[in-house]
Amino acid sequence: MAKTIFITGASSGIGKATAILFANHGWNVAATMRNPQNETELAQYPSIKVYALDVTQPESVSQAVEQALADWQQIDVLLNNAGYGLAGPLETASEEKIMDQFNTNVFGVMRTIRALLPNFREAGGGTIINVTSIGGLVGLPFNSIYHATKFGLDGLSESLNYELRPFGIRVKIVAPGGVITDFATRSLKRTVDGPSVYDASLEKVFAAFGKNSANYSTAEQIAEVIYRAATDDTDQIRYVAGQDAQATYGAWKSMSNEDFFAMINQRFGLSE
Ligand SMILES: NC(=O)c1ccc[n+]([C@@H]2O[C@H](COP(=O)([O-])OP(=O)(O)OC[C@H]3O[C@@H](n4cnc5c(N)ncnc54)[C@H](OP(=O)(O)O)[C@@H]3O)[C@@H](O)[C@H]2O)c1
Repeated sequence: MAKTIFITGASSGIGKATAILFANHGWNVAATMRNPQNETELAQYPSIKVYALDVTQPESVSQAVEQALADWQQIDVLLNNAGYGLAGPLETASEEKIMDQFNTNVFGVMRTIRALLPNFREAGGGTIINVTSIGGLVGLPFNSIYHATKFGLDGLSESLNYELRPFGIRVKIVAPGGVITDFATRSLKRTVDGPSVYDASLEKVFAAFGKNSANYSTAEQIAEVIYRAATDDTDQIRYVAGQDAQATYGAWKSMSNEDFFAMINQRFGLSE
C-alpha cells in the first residue's frame, strides 16, 4: 500500500519540491498551505491532495489533520517544513515579531506533532522530520531570533525521539544551508526598518550572505535529503543538507571555538 506524507508549507520552495518528489516515488501527499486557492501545479498530481493549514492557528492544524486522515486513513511521515526567517539585530526587534517567529517556527511544529501523534501511535509507528537549518546547529551573525527557533527545534527533536521511539516513532531533523527559494526574498522579515546603531556591521553581514549564494542548494536537492531521511530506516537523527552547510558544520566540529569565531568574523567582514 502506498505510504502517505503530510507536509506543511507546501506552497513553495522545499515543501513544494518535496511534495512532487514523494508523489513521483508513488507516495500519497497531503500538501498543506495557508492559501490553497492559489495552488494549481500540485493539484494536477492524482496522489497529491491540497489542504488549508496555517501552523499558527490551532483549529486550522486540527482541521487539516482530520481531513487528511479522512482521505488517507494513516499518515506515515510528517514533514514540518513551514517556516520563515527573521533577520537583524535582537535589540531592534519588536515583541510582536519575536512572538510571530516562535509561533510559526516552533509552536507551529509542536501543534502538528501533537495533532498527529495519536494516529502514529495507533498505527504503531511513523517518522517526524523537522526542517531546521545550519542555523539550528551553528550560530551565524544577525540571525539570533531565527537561530533560537531552529536550535530550539533541534533540541525538541532529539529529546522527543527518546520519548517516542518505544512507540516505533522516529524524529529526525534536516538542516539545510542556503537554498534557492523564496526564503530570502518574499518570506524574509527584518527586525529593523530604518537606520540603527548596527548599520555598519549589518550591511557587511547581509552583503556576505548574498556573496555566498553561489554554493546554495536547490529545493529539489534538499527534497532528496528529506526523502532519504524518510526512507533509510535508520536511527540517524541529523541530516545536514547542502555542500555549504556540510562545510560549515564540519569546520565548527573540527576547529576550536576561538578559531571558528575568528573565521566567521572574517567571512562576514566583522574582524577589526
Ligand atoms: N531557503 C533557505 O536558505 C533555508 C535554509 C535553511 C532552512 N530553511 C528552512 O526551510 C523551510 C522552508 O523554507 P523555503 O526555503 O522553502 O522558503 P519558502 O519558499 O519561503 O517557503 C516557506 C513556506 O513556509 C510557509 N509558511 C510560512 N508561514 C506559515 C504559516 N504560518 N503556516 C503555514 N505555512 C507557512 C510558506 O507559506 P506561504 O506561501 O503562505 O508564505 C511557504 O510555503 C523553512 O522552515 C526554512 O526556515 C530554508
